Amino acid sequence: MFRVLLGMGWALGLAACSGRPPPESITPVSEAQLTPELRADYDVFAQRCSKCHSLAKPLNSHVDDDDVWIRYVAKMRRQPASGISERDGEAILRFLHVLVEQERAKNAEKSK
Ligand code: HEC
Repeated sequence: MFRVLLGMGWALGLAACSGRPPPESITPVSEAQLTPELRADYDVFAQRCSKCHSLAKPLNSHVDDDDVWIRYVAKMRRQPASGISERDGEAILRFLHVLVEQERAKNAEKSK
């Protein structure tokens, strides 16, 4: 219900500046959660994690455990030319944690 198209403005701005096609910019984060910090983390995620595959891959993976993401991000970082620094990895994991919480909330709802 409170879903927003996060990063639309950001994506348009990026496209205008760099001429690169914007990565998919839709993420299921509620407006209430969308702090400037989280938005910055999301931007890192959207940029780094859309380089080799669509963002839908991580967004639709239904991971509900931070440890799984820690392993994934480490694995993706090790890919040659991932361009993901350690700092990027931390920002990305902060954003992914929000997805984990949403996934858990959904699962709790289902098992009621
Ligand atoms: C350098 C290229 C590259 C980058 C950058 C990259 N990935 Fe991947 N990713 C891959 C490849 C190749 C696969 C498929 C093979 C595999 O699972 O190892 C994949 C698969 C995945 C999968 C699905 C695995 C499965 O079992 O289906 C997820 C989730 C994922 N990536 C998340 C991420 C996240 C999150 C980021 C950003 C931190 C990221 N990727 C950045 C190359 C990349």
